[in-house]
Amino acid sequence: MSFSNHPIGVFDSGVGGLSVLREMRALMPREDIIYFGDQGHVPYGPRSMKQIQDFSEGITNYLLAQNSKIIVVACNTASAAALKHLRETFPNVQFVGMEPAVKPAAEKTQTGKVGVLATPATFQGALYASVVERFANGVELFQNTCSGLVQQIEMGNLHGDETRRILENALHPMLEKNIDTVVLGCTHYPFVIPLIQKIVGEKVRVIDPAPAVARQVKRLIEAGGAENQNGGRVRFITSGEADSVQRILSTLLGIDSEAESVMWKSDREIAA
Ligand code: DGL
Repeated sequence: MSFSNHPIGVFDSGVGGLSVLREMRALMPREDIIYFGDQGHVPYGPRSMKQIQDFSEGITNYLLAQNSKIIVVACNTASAAALKHLRETFPNVQFVGMEPAVKPAAEKTQTGKVGVLATPATFQGALYASVVERFANGVELFQNTCSGLVQQIEMGNLHGDETRRILENALHPMLEKNIDTVVLGCTHYPFVIPLIQKIVGEKVRVIDPAPAVARQVKRLIEAGGAENQNGGRVRFITSGEADSVQRILSTLLGIDSEAESVMWKSDREIAA
């Protein structure tokens, strides 16, 4: 049975995963994509691992029911808390997750000082500890959770005073430590790269892992011989309000697209 014309399933706690989706669209314009934003539960960052695992399992079941041929966990927090659980729960499904880009940062830094912006659950996860242990040798990492930034981006506030305040509070102390690289360990944060770059200056490198994730998805689909030549459609599903997601799609991606709203029946089940 050919899965070529099946969609790629993508999910995030909210709109963050759209930073991965836009790279996938550029790289694979003939692929159908179904994007799920869990606005009904965002933010995931402060939540327990168990809750994030339950939500991720429920969303994966929903995306598989839509015939997704591969699942992209376009959320660092869900990847940290739930990727291992998902691979154990769905052993026959291919998953691509996020990993804080400490490796490229460590390879590129000249000062040996790197800032990492991510959520608390990402920093607490075994995945981040493993990435640091494997790749950060000799590099000093400065971490910040940018508390409240996910919510500002969910509201489309990419340039407002509160967004700027959160980022300046996170980045100024790192600049004083002479960082020359910033790792975006949350898929929401690429949407405020212009503001981040303005705060840190052009000499500081900002690393967004989304392009690398999109390339990995393409590699896996090609390896499986499941490329779609006749697709190109994107469906946007939300567990929140469809009209507010439609507005944010315009703000973040400049697209005018319908969104479909679904309801959670429990922490692990979305109503069909
Ligand atoms: N986009 C999610 C990430 O990459 C944000 C998590 C949250 O909802 O707090 O971690």
